[in-house]
Amino acid sequence: MLMPKPALLTLGQGELRIDRNFAIAVSGLGDARVRSAANRLSTRIEKRTGLSFASGSKSAVLTIDCASKGETVQGLGEDESYKLMVTSEGARLTANSPLGVMNGLATFEQLVQPSSVEGFSVPALTIEDAPRFKWRGLHLDVSRHWMPIEVVKRNLDAMAAVKLNVFHWHLSDNQGFRVESKVYPKLHELGSDGLYYTQDQVREVISYARERGIRVVPEFDIPGHSTSWLVGYPELGAAPGPFEIGRTWGIFDPVMDPANKDLYAFLDKFIGEMADLFPDSYFHIGGDEVNGKEWSENPKVTDFKRKHGMLPAIGTPDKQALKLSNEKLQAYFNERVLALVKKHGKKMMGWDEILAPELSKDIVIQSWQGQKSLGDAVQQGFQGILSSGYYLDHMDSAGLHYSIDPLVDPKTKETLRLTADQKSRILGGEVCMWTEYVTSENVDSRIWPRTAAMAERFWSPMTVTDAADMYARLDLVSRQLDWYGVTHHASYPMMLARLAGSGPVAPLKTLADVVQPVGLSGRARAGRLSGHPYTQETPLNRLVDAARPESAEARRFSGLIDASAWAEVRQALTAWKDNQQTLAPLLQSSILRELVPVSADLTQVASLGLEALDYVAKHQKPAAAWTASANQTLVEAKKPKAEVIIAIVDPVTRLVELASRQ
Ligand code: ACM
Repeated sequence: MLMPKPALLTLGQGELRIDRNFAIAVSGLGDARVRSAANRLSTRIEKRTGLSFASGSKSAVLTIDCASKGETVQGLGEDESYKLMVTSEGARLTANSPLGVMNGLATFEQLVQPSSVEGFSVPALTIEDAPRFKWRGLHLDVSRHWMPIEVVKRNLDAMAAVKLNVFHWHLSDNQGFRVESKVYPKLHELGSDGLYYTQDQVREVISYARERGIRVVPEFDIPGHSTSWLVGYPELGAAPGPFEIGRTWGIFDPVMDPANKDLYAFLDKFIGEMADLFPDSYFHIGGDEVNGKEWSENPKVTDFKRKHGMLPAIGTPDKQALKLSNEKLQAYFNERVLALVKKHGKKMMGWDEILAPELSKDIVIQSWQGQKSLGDAVQQGFQGILSSGYYLDHMDSAGLHYSIDPLVDPKTKETLRLTADQKSRILGGEVCMWTEYVTSENVDSRIWPRTAAMAERFWSPMTVTDAADMYARLDLVSRQLDWYGVTHHASYPMMLARLAGSGPVAPLKTLADVVQPVGLSGRARAGRLSGHPYTQETPLNRLVDAARPESAEARRFSGLIDASAWAEVRQALTAWKDNQQTLAPLLQSSILRELVPVSADLTQVASLGLEALDYVAKHQKPAAAWTASANQTLVEAKKPKAEVIIAIVDPVTRLVELASRQ
């Protein structure tokens, strides 16, 4: 039932009852975080069990022994291990640091279950646990869609529940500059539509995260992805401006001008201010997706490149030479920024594109371009983390993300050929939540529960790879996450009810339960084709926004086919086939009209499934023409409509295969 799975678990005999006498004693060096973590656990267990611990006797049931105070600023690689022993008499949690205690308490909390005897209990066991990777992060883009502080906090709670330890805060991009700057106030005043975190709020989040064993790494994406900076400070740009906050998505032309020496004075002060605000030793400068257009077109930049040997002193450079010169210019920019980041006491981090052999080796490369790129980085002596394969906005399944390992080539499935030293420079991974098509209302449902599967990939031993086992535990952890305040479940009925208006929600839910949103590129394409490309202002209130990234119903249905549970398969297919009748009246509303073909497809797919099931039940092979026509229908039904796909098409396709293989 645990997620992430501990490194070592030995089951004992019996169970520890959790009743009103439950109490926690803390010994060892006092770090206030240990007591607050224990108090949070007590409060949540009280809520879950309905018990009040205040009124019970005071002898400790769970004893916590923490050997040291943690570092003043949580460090990369700080000891996070713990040992938990539970017998029917009591539980003992020992750890070298408060971080270990917090991890142990997260484990303990997952172990509390309704007892088969009476009330609630924890099974007797011994766990010795430590993470596989020391960098286990969640990245959240708060620029494209604004994420209020409550969203951040509740997700920090959920991160702690699955032992993630880095919150990567993507704070600026073309669409918004989200932190108050006292040094350069036009950054947030003109670059954010008033949607930004005050410095006090930033400190509040950092303190909240620290209490939960989570580091906060800020990202200010430069020199591209920086339009929101240029609105207030157009003089930093490589083109004259004026600039407006980006309302659409993609790779934009506006870029900072590395040839402008005033830029470095500006960045010096800015990084200084932010380095004071964010205590973590890492500072992320983004660095991704610079198209170089404005650099190529700016004569001053061209002069600068010639002077610095990035272009020949004379002649008109061709396209390739310009591209190379722009890469060199960005490398030059990165060098200058690196000096500033170091001057302010930080280590630099950036996406793959900042990789250049000249940069000092203590920077961290965040690879969104794949294990090969990550492998190259660590072979050159850099440190790195993997994010390729962990992009939530692609709407892939938890199982797919789970199968991606920072040390394994996803194509060949072979472990990267790296020396032990090189391997040790792969620090871990980060799940990425980009928010082009996500709002504060549905963001939790995009993050959870899938992120828990990746949290296990980063924490548990490399040999823990059984997807079926993962899914069984993911379902449980997903339920448990409600207790941490994330709204991945809660937002769903509300969004569906709103869509249904005054009509019945049930038939809409039946459809919604088996569809999945298309990923980032599918949504962009649909927006373009509709003639209304998405912008920051497009309402994200349709079925595609309510639908869950991975249909639990479809997965359950697929499992029923695997188990040859034909009665249940028939029941499910019949319900889907019949749904259209009750749903049809609802689909007359303007917001649901787009679902008419989706609902029709569901009926058709379910009908086909029932026919296939009849063949299977009768052990009769269908005529080749039937199979061919069925497959053609399924291929058509698999195509996205209204930006959703029907997730039972694949299992029904398997059913058709089963029928035709008899
Ligand atoms: C990225 O996805 N552009 C880092």
